[in-house]
Amino acid sequence: MTDLENELRAAIRTIPDYPKPGILFRDITTLLGAPRAFRRSIDELVHPYAGLQVSKIAGIEARGFILGGAMAHQLSAGFVPIRKKGKLPHDTVRVAYSLEYGVDEMEMHRDAIMEGESVILVDDLIATGGTAEGAVKLLRQMGANIVAACFVIDLPDLGGRKKLEDLGVQVRTLVSYE
Ligand code: PRP
Ligand code: ADE
Repeated sequence: MTDLENELRAAIRTIPDYPKPGILFRDITTLLGAPRAFRRSIDELVHPYAGLQVSKIAGIEARGFILGGAMAHQLSAGFVPIRKKGKLPHDTVRVAYSLEYGVDEMEMHRDAIMEGESVILVDDLIATGGTAEGAVKLLRQMGANIVAACFVIDLPDLGGRKKLEDLGVQVRTLVSYE
């Protein structure tokens, strides 16, 4: 395991039976509160894209907003929020999606992305990939060119990475929990 993976594992807290019995919840709030681990995570997430013309970072509510804002700053890109339904004030595109422990709908403003724009998608964690798949559908509906989807945490046993790769999306993750 790399030095970075060790530091991230030490900074991520695991909470059993949250939000439902049987779920081992990987909590990144402790990582966000650790200055060095937070900075290293952002540096590592953006480094393949430095110098590329990435126009927007699309972050998935809620923890993708925190990571995505920092990534957008570092790449001099714009930030686009992908939100749970009913939260965005202007015209939206909406998609239903399923995740490890339920179903929901998410939205993006119709005018947030122009046809052909280069976009990086980000969230804290990929599990079943249902949430990220929904976000990919929204972005592609608006004509985005998805450069990559980035996550701090991969839960590979739940198959999300493969689901995105099968959709032709390049996936980047920093630490896996088998
Ligand atoms: C978590 C996580 C991802 C999603 C991943 O968010 O932040 O968005 O689950 O699961 P999936 O790969 O199975 O779709 P959650 O749905 O708990 O929402 P929250 O950000 O509002 O807490
Ligand atoms: N989203 C889906 N599964 C999760 C998990 N095990 N920990 C944190 N967020 C999640």
